[in-house]
Amino acid sequence: MKLLLLLCLMDCFLAIAQTSSGTFNVLNYGAMADGISDDSKAFMAAWKAACSFTGGVKLLIPKGTYLVGPVKFDGPCRNVSSITVSMEGYMKASTNLSKYVSGDDWIQFGWVHHLTLTGGGTFDGQGALSWPFNECSKTEKCRVLPSSIKFVYTEHTVMNSIKSLNSKFFHIVLLGCKNFWGSNIVAQAPSDSPNTDGFHIERSLGVNIYNSVITTGDDCISIGQSNEQVVISGITCGPGHGISVGSLGRYENEGDVKGLLIKDCTLSGTANGLRIKTWKNSPGKSSVSNLTFQNIILNSVANPIIIDQAYCPYADCSSKVPSLVSIRDIIFSDIRGTSTTPVAVTLKCSSGVPCENVNLHDVHLRYVGGSPTIAECLNVQATYSGTQLPLPCN
Ligand SMILES: *[C@@H]1O[C@H](CO)[C@@H](O)[C@H](O)[C@H]1NC(C)=O
Ligand SMILES: *[C@@H]1O[C@H](CO)[C@@H](O)[C@H](O)[C@H]1NC(C)=O
Ligand SMILES: *[C@@H]1O[C@H](CO)[C@@H](O)[C@H](O)[C@H]1NC(C)=O
Repeated sequence: MKLLLLLCLMDCFLAIAQTSSGTFNVLNYGAMADGISDDSKAFMAAWKAACSFTGGVKLLIPKGTYLVGPVKFDGPCRNVSSITVSMEGYMKASTNLSKYVSGDDWIQFGWVHHLTLTGGGTFDGQGALSWPFNECSKTEKCRVLPSSIKFVYTEHTVMNSIKSLNSKFFHIVLLGCKNFWGSNIVAQAPSDSPNTDGFHIERSLGVNIYNSVITTGDDCISIGQSNEQVVISGITCGPGHGISVGSLGRYENEGDVKGLLIKDCTLSGTANGLRIKTWKNSPGKSSVSNLTFQNIILNSVANPIIIDQAYCPYADCSSKVPSLVSIRDIIFSDIRGTSTTPVAVTLKCSSGVPCENVNLHDVHLRYVGGSPTIAECLNVQATYSGTQLPLPCN
């Protein structure tokens, strides 16, 4: 009797849950899916309906080609318990830059909780037409082009089985996110495309990115200021500029970066492998601590391991003021492969705040040119254990 009652209770519960779940198909909100008409309004309308619903909801973007301009999928969705965006189509970004008003990115998910973005679809930023307008590699006073997929202050987000192609700027951006899991993501742009970072992470807590393939013109993954508990694993990267912490220390009031684990990755043909870079002449103090790089294969990488605290890509940085970003408790463990330059390990820390407790364990990096690799160090307190190729500098 009790069991029956319990079963009934569960049934009733399920029945309620089912009636309060809804699927919102963009085709029912006016999307043309012809790749020519602008479907932005239809997408926003479908999102608005989904976001106003009660219970678990699904925004469905079925197979088909969609042309869309900047779209904001913003919450809060107060009565929604979870929201799945099933992106099964091929989405093309509008190439008309005047549609992106200042600071707009292309597809934004903001202030939503329990969001899943999945479906095997492709976000094509159509960046090739915009890249010539990117001056940011040459000058500070540049127009920042729209990034493709941006998560802003989302909590409990899952992103998987998504492809991002030829972003105008960064492919995927996390800003102020809490608990993010990204997997089976492909981000792809030509090796000479400017600022097409695969992932850029900033002000986030609890980020896991794994089993993904990133080939771009800039960093595969860049970890900016104020991040905590970031785990990156199973990433195949290259070409591109590698995995980078920073650049940091460019602006005032930047937050610390701490608790970062990067493991089981392979980087091939990248400009850098594992990099920490901070600007010289930083206006404020911040720190980088508790970083572990473990079991990483670097194939034909120009700067396999590099800490650079005198970063300054523009011509007008003659300042002699050192970086004020302190770096400590860093482990490089089981790092092996080949370097395309003789200097395979660069630990160039700041004269203002020398690096503390940098540990290299089992590092084996051969120069493809034949002669032995070397290490260059400045203002660093480092310890070594296990295999060391190059030999430690000291
Ligand atoms: C949430 O649901 C409650 C109760 O059904 C309703 O009164 C309220 O208007 C809903 N809020 C939103 C934002 O839809
Ligand atoms: C580009 O977008 C702007 C703003 O929406 C619009 O006024 C203009 O006509 C568009 N240009 C083209 C070539 O479509
Ligand atoms: C260091 O970072 C790792 C990875 O985020 C974390 O699991 C660990 O608790 C951190 N250790 C300390 C002492 O904060």
